[in-house]
Amino acid sequence: MYPIIRNRRLRTSSALRSLVQENTLTVDDFIVPLFVVEGTDVKEEILSMPGQYRMSVDVLEDEIRELTALKLKAVLLFAKTDDTKKDNAGAEAWNPNGLMQRAIKIVKAANSEMLVLTDVALDPFSIYGHDGIVSGGKVLNDPTVEALCKMSVSHARAGADLVAPSDMMDGRVIEIRKALDAEGFEDVGILSYAAKYASAFYGPFRDALDSAPVDAENIPKDKKSYQMNPANRVEAVKEALMDQEEGADILMVKPGLPYLDIVREVKNAVQLPVAVYHVSGEYAMLHAAAEKGWIDYERAYLEQLICFKRAGADLIATYFAKKAAKHLQAH
Ligand code: PBG
Repeated sequence: MYPIIRNRRLRTSSALRSLVQENTLTVDDFIVPLFVVEGTDVKEEILSMPGQYRMSVDVLEDEIRELTALKLKAVLLFAKTDDTKKDNAGAEAWNPNGLMQRAIKIVKAANSEMLVLTDVALDPFSIYGHDGIVSGGKVLNDPTVEALCKMSVSHARAGADLVAPSDMMDGRVIEIRKALDAEGFEDVGILSYAAKYASAFYGPFRDALDSAPVDAENIPKDKKSYQMNPANRVEAVKEALMDQEEGADILMVKPGLPYLDIVREVKNAVQLPVAVYHVSGEYAMLHAAAEKGWIDYERAYLEQLICFKRAGADLIATYFAKKAAKHLQAH
């Protein structure tokens, strides 16, 4: 008790503070989300995500070399589909020569050691902007799961290391696992978005991929019938435990900062690595505040990243990964 115990004693110097620091950030913590588009020599900045780009596969190849030099080890690919290739079934999603499939091969050609994680959900391929097949005003579960299985196998065939279903359909983890195994892809893993909330923080991402749900009659206006209610906590643990049981290899919580309690809750409940997705809206907010000079950008994003570690995240999918890797290399 005070005055014998003085907590400030261990905060008196930088060396001492480092010595007793409980959590650290390393380059191995990061997953780098990347957006690919058709074309050559395309590098378009995403308006609501300053410093993030839609890249054609040739530009992606250069990007992978840069990420490799920074010792980053994993990328999470999202493909922006041309409108002409969208339908309600998502057939383009398992085209063996589709943009995603070509992008996977390009990453592996640039660096065979780079881990390729791929987004598995129908929204970029859906005329309605939904993560599943729409019929009668609903997003159908089981037919969507069948589509996700084909998509996953096709990504595996192109060379993906882990598929990352972000759709929140029930039962997709076990079905994807069975589909991968049936095709001989036992070693391809599943990073499941286990607790993904129906969040306002995905706005900039939907700009990036032009994948927002459309406003039309008899089409659900939002994703609340499959993504989780932000008010719920117990349900997140249930989702995580079910995905673990179904054979997921890594579980993800999404979004990040407003859901740190969920990260900790899930981490305590499961025996798998837990990832968190620091999403587009969180990135945009920090940039907007920094542009106005209202926040110290560098300190703020680094603080956010270490908070994910403290909350229990083993991995962080973040648009700040490249900047953080540069920072870590320099310090
Ligand atoms: C869609 C998907 C979304 C994100 C990743 N996969 C958006 C959504 O569910 O509408 C969001 C990522 C981000 O905001 O950075 N399957």
